[in-house]
Amino acid sequence: MGIGANAERVDGCAKLMGTARYVDDIVLPGMLHGATIRTPIARGRIKRIHFDPAVNWAEFVVVDHRDIPGGNAVALIEKDQPALVASEFRHKHEPVVLIAHASVHKLREAARGVQIEVESLPALLDALAKPGAEQIQHGSDNVLKKLSIRKGDPASVFGRAAHVIEGAYHTGAQEHVYLETQGMLAHRENGRLVVCGSMQCPYYVLDSLTHAFGWPREAFSVVQAAVGGGFGGKEDYPSNIAIHAALLAEKAGAPVKLVYDRQEDMAVTTKRHPSWVRHRTAVDKDGRLLAMEIDVILDGGAYVTLSPVVLSRGCIHASGPYYCENTHVHGEARLTNSLPYGAFRGFGAPQTIFAMERHMDVIASRLDMDPVELRRRNFLRDGQTMATGQLFRDGTDLPGLMDRALSEADYHAKRKAHVSFNAMHPYLRRGIGLATFHHGSGFTGGGETRLASEVWMEGLADGSVEVLTAQTDMGQGTSTILSQIAAETLGLTVTQVRVATPDTSRVPNSGPTVASRTAMVVGRLTQKAAEDLAKLVGGLRGDGLVSAIKAWHIAHPGGPLVGRAKYEKPASIVWDDATYMGDAYASYSWGAYVAEVEVDLRTYATRVTDFVAAQEVGRVVNPTLARGQVQGGVVQGIGWALYEDVVLEDGVMKNCQMTNYIIPASADLPPIRVLFDESPSPHGPGGAKGIGEMPIDGPGPALMNAVSAAVGVSMDAIPLTPERLMERLEGGGHG
Ligand code: MTE
Ligand code: MOS
Repeated sequence: MGIGANAERVDGCAKLMGTARYVDDIVLPGMLHGATIRTPIARGRIKRIHFDPAVNWAEFVVVDHRDIPGGNAVALIEKDQPALVASEFRHKHEPVVLIAHASVHKLREAARGVQIEVESLPALLDALAKPGAEQIQHGSDNVLKKLSIRKGDPASVFGRAAHVIEGAYHTGAQEHVYLETQGMLAHRENGRLVVCGSMQCPYYVLDSLTHAFGWPREAFSVVQAAVGGGFGGKEDYPSNIAIHAALLAEKAGAPVKLVYDRQEDMAVTTKRHPSWVRHRTAVDKDGRLLAMEIDVILDGGAYVTLSPVVLSRGCIHASGPYYCENTHVHGEARLTNSLPYGAFRGFGAPQTIFAMERHMDVIASRLDMDPVELRRRNFLRDGQTMATGQLFRDGTDLPGLMDRALSEADYHAKRKAHVSFNAMHPYLRRGIGLATFHHGSGFTGGGETRLASEVWMEGLADGSVEVLTAQTDMGQGTSTILSQIAAETLGLTVTQVRVATPDTSRVPNSGPTVASRTAMVVGRLTQKAAEDLAKLVGGLRGDGLVSAIKAWHIAHPGGPLVGRAKYEKPASIVWDDATYMGDAYASYSWGAYVAEVEVDLRTYATRVTDFVAAQEVGRVVNPTLARGQVQGGVVQGIGWALYEDVVLEDGVMKNCQMTNYIIPASADLPPIRVLFDESPSPHGPGGAKGIGEMPIDGPGPALMNAVSAAVGVSMDAIPLTPERLMERLEGGGHG
C-alpha cells in the first residue's frame, strides 16, 4: 500500500460517520461566541463608535484595537493590514469592534446596536483607473508590486514578422465556496493560548499571533481542526480570525468561538484576483512564435496580503508551455479599495493561462490554422528555454499528451461534425476547444529555500510510526499520501503509520499547505525523515523495523525516537530573485484539456457536454485521490468560466449568498474523463510532482475556445454568463 496504490483515505471513515470534528463542532465549558462589527463604506476614517444604551453592555466582552497587546497588524508579506481598525480604513467590512457573549441570539441583537460613525475618504474601486492624488494609498501610484521577465528583444522582431496579433483578456473574481465556512476557537490550556480552527497554514497563524500579541511562539499552540476545503481561501484569512478569537478569549478569560456564517464568509473573506492581460505576439508565416509581449494587471484589493506572490506565479506562467526566443512579461498588482484579493487555487496562473490559451486560438484563427497544429509547432522541446531562461529538460512529451487528450475526446471528428451541425440547427451551436498548459510545483524561485521546511518521523513504543508535519488535510488527501510515502519508505502498511494533527506546539514547521507543494516537497522530506528514523535503529524495514523500534524504547524509556529531515535546495536549481531569471520551479506538471460545449441561442446558456483532462504530474501517488483532485479542479474551473459572477458594490461582494452566487451543481456537469501520463520527477518522492492546483488552469480557456468555435465570435472574458453572451452576440461583435 505504498506509492501508486489506491490506499483508502485515512480521514475517510471519520468524515463519512460524522465523527470528524470541525471547529464549529467543538464546545468547551463556559464558551462564548464572538461577532465582528465592520466598517460601513469603502474608505474613510472612524469618527465615533456608538453603543446602543438599550443593550446591557456589562454582559458582553467588547474588544477594539486598544486591546491588542502587540502590533496592530495581520503579519504576512507586509504588515499593512490592521487586525482591528483604529482610525483610517481602506475597504468596506473591515473589522473594528469584536463582541462576545454566551448566547448567539443576544450576540446578534447586540451587534446591531453598535454603530460606526465615519468620515468618508475618496475610494478607488477601478484597478485600471489612474488614481487621483487623494486616492493614492500606496507608493506614488498604488502599484503594490511590479515585476518583469525579460528574455531576448521582442521589439526588434515585431517590424519584420509575418503577423503581429494582439489580444486583451479579462477574468473576474471568484469566491472559494469551501463547504465549511471559516472559524476559530481560542482558549487557555496548560499555560498556552490555544487557537484551533479551520486553516491551511498553522505557522502563518502562529506568526500573526506572535506579532499581534508580542509574545514568543511558545506562548501559543495553533491547532488545525478538520477542514472542509480551503482552496487558498484559508491561506491568509484564518490569521485575522485567529487574532480576533484570541483577543476576545484573553479579555473574557473564557473560551471564545468565532465562526462566520455563509453570508459573512462570502462578504468579507478574500477572492480570486480579477485580471486584465494584454498580448502582442509576432509569428512567422508558419505560425512559429517569434516574440511575445505580455502585460498583466491584477486588482490586489485594499491590502498587500499575498498579491505579490500571486502576481509572480501569474507572470511566470503567462507565456505558456511554448518556446519563444523573445518574451517580455510585465506585471503589476494594484491597490484599490475593494476587499483584499488573496490566494485561490492556481495563484494567478489560471488568469494568465486563460489569456495565453485564448490568444493561441485567436492567433490560429488569424492564420487560418488548426489550433492543435499551432500548439504542436510551438511546444517546448527538451533543451529549449522557458521565459525565465529555465531549461526545459524533464522529458515530458507535450505533443503526445495533447494527442492523447484529443483522441480521447474524438476532437477532430467532432470539430468536423460541429460545422455541419451548426449550419443546420436553428438555435443550437456546438464547439470543441483545447487548452495546453503547465503548472509549477512548490514555492517559486528561492521560496522553498527561505521556508526551510522540516519534517519529523517518530518511532512509537508500539512499533508504529507517526509523521509530524504542519501540512493540513483540507480534502486533498495529504494525510493519506504522506502515510503512503512513509509506509513505502519503511516497508510498513499504511495502518502502521499515523499522521499527527498539525499543532504548532508539537509539529515542526514544514511550511504552508499551498502552491501544490505537499506531495513533491513535503513528501520528499517525509521520505527522508523516514530514512533517518530507520537509520537510527539499524537501517531495517518492515517487521524488522517494528521490532527494532520496540527494542529501542525498552532500552530508552521515555524516548523520543525521532528521525528528522530539512529542506535542502537541489544544487541543480538556480534562481535569481533580482533579475527574475533561472529555475522558477524545480518541476512542472503539464496539462492538455479538451472541452465540448453546446450553446443555446434562445437562452444564451452554455452547457458543457464533454470534458477530457489529460495531465502529466509525475508519479501518481494515489490514483483515486488524484482523479478527485482533477475532477474537483475542473468543476471549479467550469464554475469560474461560466457561472460564478462576483457582483461588486462598494468594492465588496453584493451577491454573498448561495442563492445568488451560482456555482455548478452535478446536473450542470459533463462526464469528466481523467488521464495521467507519468514522467517521474527527480525531485519528488517516487517521482511525484504537484497536482492540486493545475486542474483549474485548463477549463477556462478550453471552454472559451469551445464557445468561440461554436458561435464564431471570440470570447475573451469570463465568467461568460448567459447575460454576457447575449450582450456579446447581440452587441454585434464579430471578432
Ligand atoms: N482539494 C480539496 N479537496 N480541498 C482543497 O481545499 N485546495 C487546493 C488543492 N486541492 C484544495 C484541494 C489548493 S489551492 C492547493 S494549493 C492544493 O490543494 C494544496 O494541497 P497540496 O499541497 O497537497 O497539493
Ligand atoms: Mo493554494 S491557492 O496555493 O492554497
